[in-house]
Amino acid sequence: MDDQIDRREFLKLASIGGVVFVSTLSNQHSAQAFSPKKDFFFVQLSDTHWGFDGKKVNPDAKGTLPKAIKELQGLEQKPEFIVFTGDLTQISDDASVRKQRMKEFKDIVSELSSFKVLFMPGEHDASLDNGEMYKEFFGATHYTWDHKGVHFIVIDNVSDPGGIIGKTQLQWLEDDLKLQKPDANIVVFTHRPLFDLYPQWDWTTKDGDAAIKLLMPFKNVTVFYGHIHQEHHHFTGHIAHHSAKSLMLPMPPAGSVPKREPILWVANEPYKGLGFREVKSLTKNRTFTIEEFGINAGTT
Ligand SMILES: [Fe+2]
Repeated sequence: MDDQIDRREFLKLASIGGVVFVSTLSNQHSAQAFSPKKDFFFVQLSDTHWGFDGKKVNPDAKGTLPKAIKELQGLEQKPEFIVFTGDLTQISDDASVRKQRMKEFKDIVSELSSFKVLFMPGEHDASLDNGEMYKEFFGATHYTWDHKGVHFIVIDNVSDPGGIIGKTQLQWLEDDLKLQKPDANIVVFTHRPLFDLYPQWDWTTKDGDAAIKLLMPFKNVTVFYGHIHQEHHHFTGHIAHHSAKSLMLPMPPAGSVPKREPILWVANEPYKGLGFREVKSLTKNRTFTIEEFGINAGTT
């Protein structure tokens, strides 16, 4: 597939796109000049699927998210915000079950009350009722804010059961972007990939190209998303798209197996493929560095 790129290739692309990828094995990020006044970092968690039950996939379904939260509480430096990029809960046709899962999820993440925490829905949370219940618990499904010179935009591409952003929201995006300068530093959070990663597995946003078209005139745009339950890095032109791991069930690379099914738990490699990431925003040169973290089995 042309969107599969190896790490060396990614670093080459990254140096063009203004993003430096850092694996947990290296420590290159410390070499990047971090200016505490202007620079900051945030944490992205994704696809926590609270309520998922499948022992062969994740026998610690009730413990993985709390472990990640413990690790965040133990961070030496505090992120300026923590963002959950959708699929907070596992879908259920029974609305009372969905409600219970949202309530439990909200209770668990209330442990993070000393942090600024932001949410957005995934199709598991929002596609059965156009996001109505999600909004009762977590508020708006699309919004913007500004922080230390970065304009953040949350795009909802899941509440519409057709997996689209929709005309109304695209107009809202267009109006918002009209207020931005061409060299603005723009970060987009969304659940589904905005590009056609693998439509056969529903890894796409049907009208995502309309959002990309609106973003293209801006020089500095980076998209962070979830949905595909694994790290993936891709460019549409100069716009970088980075997907995050899940905190419940890992998925195989697009098209690598005949059917889209979670990767099974490996006893001697617990939590393999699960985790969260830190993103450092370095104002100078407008770069972002990404550092991936796994789940520590020893955290209780
Ligand atoms: Fe998901």
